[in-house]
Order: sequence, then structure tokens, then C-alpha cells
Amino acid sequence: MNSKGRIVIKLGGGLITNKNLSKTINKEAIKNVCNTIKQLNDEGYVLIIVHGAGSYGHILSKKMDIANGINNEIQEQQINAVQQIRSNMIELNNEVIKSLKKIGLVAIGYPPSKWAKGIGKDFTGNLDIFETINNDKIPICFGDVVDRDDSNKFGILSGDDLMYRISMEIPNVNFTIFLLGDVDGVLTNPPNNLNAKLIKNYSKNDITNTSHSSDIDVTGGIDLKLLRAVEISKKIENVWFLNGNRSERIMQLIHTGTTIGTKILP
Ligand code: IPE
Repeated sequence: MNSKGRIVIKLGGGLITNKNLSKTINKEAIKNVCNTIKQLNDEGYVLIIVHGAGSYGHILSKKMDIANGINNEIQEQQINAVQQIRSNMIELNNEVIKSLKKIGLVAIGYPPSKWAKGIGKDFTGNLDIFETINNDKIPICFGDVVDRDDSNKFGILSGDDLMYRISMEIPNVNFTIFLLGDVDGVLTNPPNNLNAKLIKNYSKNDITNTSHSSDIDVTGGIDLKLLRAVEISKKIENVWFLNGNRSERIMQLIHTGTTIGTKILP
């Protein structure tokens, strides 16, 4: 492990997909963020990537009520949907891996449906896979449908819970970064509100009038991200929400310790 340490970075589903349109990826955003990852890798940082689902997961999960576990009345359709979502997620993961490969980076996908069980931040599974010794293979995982040991049978493990556990348990993490789709960080109001302003420093007691679009989102939306991020910030000094379309800000943050975005404080 070199002295620069690790960066745990989440490519939000709203950044890498079009959240409203089933299975549509945002190729340009993926390409740009992969270029930034390459730059960081070249500079000697060790990366761990997590990504969200966006329209590769939320739409069908919502339709089939996957987050609430098995429902006897629609059990068969649900089981088909679970398979479909898992394969969609692997497809999305492969898009990111392919994009990294194009610029010379090797990433290894670890689908949580294959190694994790249970939902929320206490899920089980061996996190050692993320502890790469050197930087020639980047581990990459994502929010997924996972099995549960209880009567629910399955549920959705959010990438935000993966961010939490990886940041807390893998040594030498210096930065935990959540990349968002179309906003500069955490806002005081939903982005479409004219009064929405960027919150530069967010701590637990700050109230935001967030817009958890529960009609689309089956995990916790921005509220879950904030909850997890505040918990992570108790251990990691640099926990940030940034605009994933502004790669120069990611670089500025890493190089100078600050940029335009939201810094999370404990
Ligand atoms: C959701 O993961 C996973 C599924 C719906 C299968 P996330 O909660 O990490 O996804 P985004 O970032 O909100 O899209």
C-alpha cells in the first residue's frame, strides 16, 4: 500500500443511467468518470468503485415490489424479476468495466448477489475482496438484489450501504466520494426549486428539504446517502458529494482538499 491511500468512489445511478427510462445508460458520463479514475490511478491512488442501479434496477424493483421481499401472490413474477434485475446489473457493471478497459484499466466486478446476504449496513459477506494490495486490478461492485436469510427471502442492498462498510472496514481510505448526476452536491431544496442552494458543509443536524423520489427510488435516495455519509465521516475525514459530470472538481478535491461540492461532517 503506498502512502497516497485509497479512494472509495460511488458512481450514482442517476449519473451513469437515465433514471426515468428503463435500461438507458449515460455513456458520456461513464466515459468521463472513467477518465478521471484513470488519472487518479496514474497518480498512485488505490481505487475501490461502487455504482448504483438507476434505471437498470429501480424501475423493475419498484414494479415488482422487490425491496419488501417475497409476496406469495406475485411470487413467480418476482422471482423472474429478481433474475432480470441481477442480470441487468451485471450488464451495467460490464459497461463500466468495458469503459475502463478502453483506457487501459483492469477492473474486476463483484456482484453482491454472489457474495453478500442481507440488506442495510449490517449485510454479511467477505469484504476482503476489496483489499487490493496494488493498483493493477480495481474492484468494482454495485447495489443489487441479494438473498436474505429471513422469511423475506430477498431484498435490495444499496450501493450506499456498500460504501459505508467498505469505507469503515478497508484500511487506508482517505476519501469517500459520492458522485451525483445533475447537481453540484447536497442542495437545500430539490434541484428543480429555484431557491435550491448548495450546502457546502453538511452535518447530521442540518435539515434539507430533499426530494426523495420514492416513485422511482426503491432504496433510500439522497436521505440514505446522507445518513451513511455522516456515519462514514466519523472515521474518514474527506467524505464528499460531488457533481459527477465535473471531473476537474474531483481532481481539485484530491489535490487540494477542497472543491465545489458538499463536505460531510460528523
Ligand atoms: C440500488 O442500488 C440497487 C437496485 C435497485 C437493484 P443503489 O441504491 O446504490 O442505486 P442508485 O445509486 O440509487 O441508483
